[in-house]
Amino acid sequence: RKVGIIGVPFEKGQKKYGVSVAPAALRAAGLISKLKEIEGLDVKDYGDIETPDIKEVKVDNMAHLALVSACNKKLSERVTQVLKDDRIVVTIGGDHSIGVGTVDGHYKVNEDMILVWVDAHADINTNKTSDSGSVHGMPVALLVTEFRNYWPYLPTMDWQDPVFSIKSLGYIGLRSVDNFERLAIEKYKVPTFAMEDVEEHGIKNSIQHVLQALDPTSSRPIHVSFDIDALDALEAPSTGTPVRGGLTLREAICLMEIVHATGRLRAVDLVEVNPAIGNEKDRNQTIEAGLCILKAALGFSRRGTAPRGVLDL
Ligand code: ARG
Ligand code: MN
Ligand code: MN
Ligand code: MN
Repeated sequence: RKVGIIGVPFEKGQKKYGVSVAPAALRAAGLISKLKEIEGLDVKDYGDIETPDIKEVKVDNMAHLALVSACNKKLSERVTQVLKDDRIVVTIGGDHSIGVGTVDGHYKVNEDMILVWVDAHADINTNKTSDSGSVHGMPVALLVTEFRNYWPYLPTMDWQDPVFSIKSLGYIGLRSVDNFERLAIEKYKVPTFAMEDVEEHGIKNSIQHVLQALDPTSSRPIHVSFDIDALDALEAPSTGTPVRGGLTLREAICLMEIVHATGRLRAVDLVEVNPAIGNEKDRNQTIEAGLCILKAALGFSRRGTAPRGVLDL
């Protein structure tokens, strides 16, 4: 198996300083070498996506759209390239606005992909429903074709023609959902295991139900967009919009192991790690949690791996 790593030091999709440092922090914590330790995994680092310094456009209640757009356009192209190189794409954010580029780039290679959004938040606001005006709360709404008519004309976004269907989206871990987001989830019957459903069914059944609902024949490529704030704030404190009462790291690892076991994971995003929030212990804990989640997604086994070809057993 082969993977390609993309870093996206981008933070203009939200207001706090620091998310853009995450790719460097994760690399410094041994991201590449730790993934290379996974049995049979070929790891290639495609480096970082740099966002050009460009002129802002003014769109009502939508901050830094031109920068978000420019970053995502480059990211989408890189994601497509990595997939065409026949590698699983691992994208390290950056804030969650970069989900626009990862999903767009993935969709252009695999039109039958399904998307599992693991998050405390639904990130399906438009600029008309958002309280924050931050694009990291809007990527899903930008991506889905069913929302086309809910948006005004968005300057600089012509490259992104939403064609991904909300019917291919599922959620895990929600616990901070805005009113219109809830309405959208109900209207489009998005398979959703919010924290109370995870509570009722357990994490294993939750992810299995979502995968089954989106893809009853178990044949479609999977994209997991993992917002570190899906984890409980006690487990991942260094993030911009933490919410208590979330997934444990054990649950997140279990979820990713199940996704890995399908053999159909094609893209995984890890976003919203903010090393500038909290103290050193918080930072290390959050980064380590992120590494554990990625390792689980890519086949690291908690049972260990026996060396091959050493002993004839
Ligand atoms: N729902 C809130 C908003 O629209 C919070 C979004 C948080 N998103 C995230 N990717 N952490 O601003
Ligand atoms: Mn979130
Ligand atoms: Mn239920
Ligand atoms: Mn998010």
